Amino acid sequence: MLVTSKHLLAKARRKKYAIPAFNINNLEILKAVMSAGEKMKSPIIIQTSEGAIEYAGMDYLIAMIRVASKGKIPVVMHLDHGKDLKIIFQAIQSGYTSVMIDASAFDYKKNVTLTKKVIAKAHPRGVSVEAEIGALAGIEDLVSVEARDAKLTDPDDAKLFVKDTGCDSLAVAIGTSHGAFKFKGKTHLDIERLKEIAKRVSVPIVLHGASGVREDIKKIAEQHGAKLGKARGVLDTDISKVIQHGVAKINIDTDLRIAFTAGIREAIDDMPTIIDPRKLLEGPMLLMREVAMQKMKLFKSAGKA
Ligand code: G3H
Ligand code: 13P
Ligand code: ZN
Repeated sequence: MLVTSKHLLAKARRKKYAIPAFNINNLEILKAVMSAGEKMKSPIIIQTSEGAIEYAGMDYLIAMIRVASKGKIPVVMHLDHGKDLKIIFQAIQSGYTSVMIDASAFDYKKNVTLTKKVIAKAHPRGVSVEAEIGALAGIEDLVSVEARDAKLTDPDDAKLFVKDTGCDSLAVAIGTSHGAFKFKGKTHLDIERLKEIAKRVSVPIVLHGASGVREDIKKIAEQHGAKLGKARGVLDTDISKVIQHGVAKINIDTDLRIAFTAGIREAIDDMPTIIDPRKLLEGPMLLMREVAMQKMKLFKSAGKA
């Protein structure tokens, strides 16, 4: 069933588990993660970026997610990294149950103003709002304390921001970044900073850039020609830690992308006589399903539907 994210995430934070938020761009990714959610009996957030909307069209995405949400597990239809107010308002009007306003690149005052503008439209319609403060950045890029404090989320600012805006959940920057190349040296998150944020902020916390870049799947991709070099993600042990300290929504895109790509490369190599895309996409879908199931176990959302 289609649900909003507010209560789902509040419960997850209270009970110390996290809801997986998977980025989808097409039917294959959607079916793979939904099949994982149904198998694991996990609530699920299906999120589409503005890029996904440009690629597939909002109407196509909404129609597919509506069909996907007809089953038993709770499904949130969420707009990821909404930056364009026109797209955010269109999503609110068209049936998304949750939106993100990402005004984190602006100064505090403008971030608050834009976030409040979205909340004023979303809340009367029962749509939940995620906002962000701080800028995602790999921790090694921030060598000095000053650089870290300038980019990563300041705990006192986070408290003020939630109070000033009334957002339903808060995305924070604690050293993760988007994509497959998250860490140059040792994988490391600023867990102490997260603990300070969690002491001050009672709304559910959201972790972006949380993919793990699984070695086994990277290897399949590379065995079939991919060049992923020093691609490296967040450790599973760090994911378990952040869930203990208020993180209740965890965003995953890159891990699905790597699985999809690895599966496609393998299928094309292994089945040179096959020209039916449906056959070629069977393996990639199974691999994405397996990745999604592993997240549900790790996030402890399995069995919570
Ligand atoms: O946060 C970024 C997500 O991975 C979405 O990426 O804008 O390329 O769809 P995208
Ligand atoms: P990854 O690139 O680590 O999968 O993060 C995705 C994300 O944060 C989407 O908003
Ligand atoms: Zn993100």
